[in-house]
Amino acid sequence: MLRQPFVVAVDGPAAAGKGTLAKRLADEIGLPYLDTGLLYRAVARRMLDVSEDPAHTSGLEQAEGLSPEDLLRGDLRVPEVDRAASLVARQPEVRHALVGVQRRFADERGAVLDGRDIGTVIFPDALVKLYVTASPAARALRRYLQTGGDTTRPGWEEELREIETSIRARDEADSARETAPLRIAEDAVMIVTDDMDANAVLAEAIRIVKDRLAAAD
Ligand code: CDP
Repeated sequence: MLRQPFVVAVDGPAAAGKGTLAKRLADEIGLPYLDTGLLYRAVARRMLDVSEDPAHTSGLEQAEGLSPEDLLRGDLRVPEVDRAASLVARQPEVRHALVGVQRRFADERGAVLDGRDIGTVIFPDALVKLYVTASPAARALRRYLQTGGDTTRPGWEEELREIETSIRARDEADSARETAPLRIAEDAVMIVTDDMDANAVLAEAIRIVKDRLAAAD
């Protein structure tokens, strides 16, 4: 019997397919889903709106003022917010302010959460921990196509290169920061998605969840 809320932690680097997997997995097993990257994006967005520079200004006030509507904004997945979110995510006081929101989300029914530190910091006792990754080139292509890219357009290779450069920069920043860096939890199962489509990744994740449930019984 499970005595703790059923938490599935899905961590990994930018554009690895965590979000797609976590959402579909949550639907499949009937748990609420939280994209924790949106929290950092929304704090960054609020800072940019009032011309605060996340490289030099604390985002604590904006983190404390976060409302559910902020997470629904349509302008959270744009390149300037990618960069600003990664900067604001380095700030220990911002991370600290967002811990409670993430933990409370799973209080009642458990949850599937995706991010960078879910299995290492937010839910170190999560029943299932997945680490979803792929090569920077595969992730860049995925993000390019996801955001309306077209590989028949003149100059597409240059656009793709820019995305890969930005992904590598975020990988570096997310892994090198002192507070809650991106790393694989010791008890996480890694899924490398270069040669897998979304269905194959979901099937693999479901298999891992079933294994863990059987082992916890
Ligand atoms: O979707 P993508 O992988 O591009 O990014 P995201 O998950 O929306 O996260 C945006 C940024 O927030 C990341 O680059 C991280 O710096 C930060 N983040 C974090 O530090 N911890 C989390 N649990 C989630 C996101």
